[in-house]
Amino acid sequence: MKMWAGRFAKEEDKLVNDFNSSIGFDGRLAPFDVEGSKAHAQMLCATGIIPESDAISIENGLNSIASDLASGVLTFDAEAEDIHMFIEAELTNRIGNAGKRLHTARSRNDQVALDMRLYVKSALNKILEKTQNLITTLATLAIKNADAVMSGYTHLQKAQPVTLGHYFNAYANMFSRDISRLKDCLIRADVCPLGACALAGTTYPIDREMTAKALGFSRVGNNSLDDVSDRDFVLETAFCISLIMMHLSRLSEEVILFTSSEFKYIELDDAFATGSSIMPQKKNPDVAELVRGKTGRVYGNLVALLTVMKALPLAYNKDMQEDKEALFDSVDTVLICLETFTKMIECITVNKENMLISAQKGFINATDVADYLTKKGVPFRDAYKCSGKLVAVCIEKDLTLNALPLDEYKKINELFEEDVYKEIDLINCLKKRTSYGAPSPQMVEEQAKKFL
Ligand code: ARG
Repeated sequence: MKMWAGRFAKEEDKLVNDFNSSIGFDGRLAPFDVEGSKAHAQMLCATGIIPESDAISIENGLNSIASDLASGVLTFDAEAEDIHMFIEAELTNRIGNAGKRLHTARSRNDQVALDMRLYVKSALNKILEKTQNLITTLATLAIKNADAVMSGYTHLQKAQPVTLGHYFNAYANMFSRDISRLKDCLIRADVCPLGACALAGTTYPIDREMTAKALGFSRVGNNSLDDVSDRDFVLETAFCISLIMMHLSRLSEEVILFTSSEFKYIELDDAFATGSSIMPQKKNPDVAELVRGKTGRVYGNLVALLTVMKALPLAYNKDMQEDKEALFDSVDTVLICLETFTKMIECITVNKENMLISAQKGFINATDVADYLTKKGVPFRDAYKCSGKLVAVCIEKDLTLNALPLDEYKKINELFEEDVYKEIDLINCLKKRTSYGAPSPQMVEEQAKKFL
């Protein structure tokens, strides 16, 4: 018999019960639900709404439920409508009438909003920690590879010299923006909805500040309608996670590319790669591919959540029960991706020599050839043309700019001298890139240290 069966003449159809039930996926809210109920009962007692003896049995009952759930002695009743009903019914089973007083001045609407906020706050902190670990790993790798020359790309075509360290720093910057977004999201999640009740507050003399403080919230919600119908914090969390996954996916794509035999810039540790069931030579970057793949489902969750909330009238609607699986899945996914990816990238082997050999082949110092002339007074556009012509000569003769004889340079422009070779040496090209944020090894090291 349902708790709300009073006004109904018939039992709920079994199909409706199963369709309606969220116990299959909201069980993970149990610790937050218990915490919220304990704070609520203490407040009901402090304000004289329930007697102290009831508050004490409620507290003891909830503690015993929490420990029995944690130890597995107590399992969820598949027939229960949701985690809130399950815990309340179990409490009343255990302590009798006092259990029936717990829901005074409360509704499942503010209760579920509270549980979700407590869950989101705890999830955001876990994501923050794992993102920070990744940044530390990337910055450490950046320092180790501050002088590892490689080609930078635009359009995936070789462009200008950078270092692998500079690459890692680029990602450290992206993830540090994610950190700032997560922290910002936490500020708005940190508002206590408890006490908004069903939608219109209550006539009982409750103390919302007291429960908010006991539950670690910085402030209380200002509007009972908004308090129970706001899921912005869920959407924002799903968005922050989507952005982290987007960054992880871009980096994964580069790991996949750079470990391929065409590039061979980096090699994965055997413990973080997989083999093929038919091709014995294969060493596949499955972790990076899965991270890239899982980004899709995390985006899907965000779109699902946005769509669920679209056009919902105030205040609570059952549609909002659909927020849980999508959010939980995004949180689980980003946590496992961050952890596995960080461990994988920590133990890569960098093939500095291959990167340098490859970088030397792509005319990535052509801009430096133009800059050489520009520094001798030639307008940049003219210098750019000269460099382009030299590249064409190199292609024809199958030579690099560094190997092209000086007389070929002089044929294009008399101002070229022997010192051009030093100027366009890749290592030298990099050392000279000292403008703020540029890839000179010293700048890369300085920038990386900011993350440590
Ligand atoms: N299981 C519900 C949810 O997740 C809890 C809130 C139910 N409230 C209600 N008025 N039916 O949204």
